[in-house]
Amino acid sequence: MNILILGSGGREHTFAWKLSQSEKLTKLFVAPGNAGTSEIAINIPIGVNDFSAIRDFVIKENVELVLVGPEDPLVNGIHDYFLQNENLKHVAVIGPEKLAATLEGSKEFAKEFMMRHHIPTAQYKSFTARTVEAGFTFLEQLNPPYVLKADGLAAGKGVVILNDLDDAKAELRAMLVDEKFGSASSTVVIEEFLDGIELSVFVLTDGESYKVLPTAKDYKRIGEGDTGLNTGGMGAISPVPFASKELMDKIEQLIVKPTVEGLKIDKMPYKGFIFIGLIKVGDDPKVIEYNVRMGDPETEVVLPRIKNDLVELLQAVANQTLTDIDLQLDDRTATTVMTVSGGYPGSYEKGKEIKGIATIQDSLVFHAGTTIKEGKVVTNGGRVMAITSFGSDFKSALAKSYQNVEKLSFEGMKYRKDLGFDL
Ligand code: AMP
Ligand code: GLY
Repeated sequence: MNILILGSGGREHTFAWKLSQSEKLTKLFVAPGNAGTSEIAINIPIGVNDFSAIRDFVIKENVELVLVGPEDPLVNGIHDYFLQNENLKHVAVIGPEKLAATLEGSKEFAKEFMMRHHIPTAQYKSFTARTVEAGFTFLEQLNPPYVLKADGLAAGKGVVILNDLDDAKAELRAMLVDEKFGSASSTVVIEEFLDGIELSVFVLTDGESYKVLPTAKDYKRIGEGDTGLNTGGMGAISPVPFASKELMDKIEQLIVKPTVEGLKIDKMPYKGFIFIGLIKVGDDPKVIEYNVRMGDPETEVVLPRIKNDLVELLQAVANQTLTDIDLQLDDRTATTVMTVSGGYPGSYEKGKEIKGIATIQDSLVFHAGTTIKEGKVVTNGGRVMAITSFGSDFKSALAKSYQNVEKLSFEGMKYRKDLGFDL
């Protein structure tokens, strides 16, 4: 089978690594890919939202399955685009159709979905520029901290949490009236603050049945002790040590099942990964967000723990035979440490030579923002390379990741040295 992966991060390199282990794979393409994917697949210089170029390529190369990495093309309707095109509709697309992708594309849509299907989540109300005064009144009724969420996609920056009521009102005005996040904040969801510890659960569904994949926890802030600006993710651990069988049973019964059922009831076709962001409040899991894709860097720890052939799993999703698959997991803990460019998540330089990759032993190297220039692997993004290791627990796995990260070097290289500090 010929497969095309869309995307260029550590997530996509991990997908490529896993798919390339399958005997069912014939040719693997990644658009646009990175230096890591170029070693195991064929990179093609097409952007993930250039649907007509993707169409032409898929037809020319007889691609039979497209695995969509990031949310953008899904929210823009790439799956629907394939279904509506006579020459493409036989091609399997892994990732939901546009309507279901709105679960990530609109916070308000996601909240309404959860309310309709009685899925535990924070209490909320949503407001627009016309109802900004009502928003102020609602804030006055809440206890701090105040959680304000831009409705649309805002590159991971659309959630603002503030302790002071006046600051929260000013932020609400900035989002709604001054269009701080452009049209993404023309609606704002204000919600109850959930006090607890976060974890993420990943689900693969064919729209009928589902498999709960390993849990993971990522570290979003740039600074040690969870301080500083939000990033795409500085590292991850799987499984989450506090995700007991009891908690996982609750998550499956109260959240995963009603989510997959809700998609069916609402006629939102979904073949792909669901990434459920949760906060455990006391003993109760509550949903803070849905993403309609795998996480990055969560993929770098979740996929290595899945023993099944990934081509078989994805074919089962496409053919709606997922129920026949016996999911096999590696019991060990996997951790990944992300190295990033100096200055990230603010501005940073690119093109720095990365040294020491070949000296890494006993860990997996997943490239994120890298490219090849004059025969050398150089930095090409904020998040550069993730080092994944296994261990009997997260501490031993992390020790191995850190040992290997220290063998890597590029000008300005940074990474968080305290992953797992909160566990
Ligand atoms: P999101 O983009 O929805 O994942 O939100 C970004 C981050 O804000 C989450 O990872 C949480 O740490 C935090 N967050 C979101 N919603 C809440 C909430 N209701 N209560 C507390 N923290 C939240
Ligand atoms: N690491 C968080 C995300 O992929 O959204």
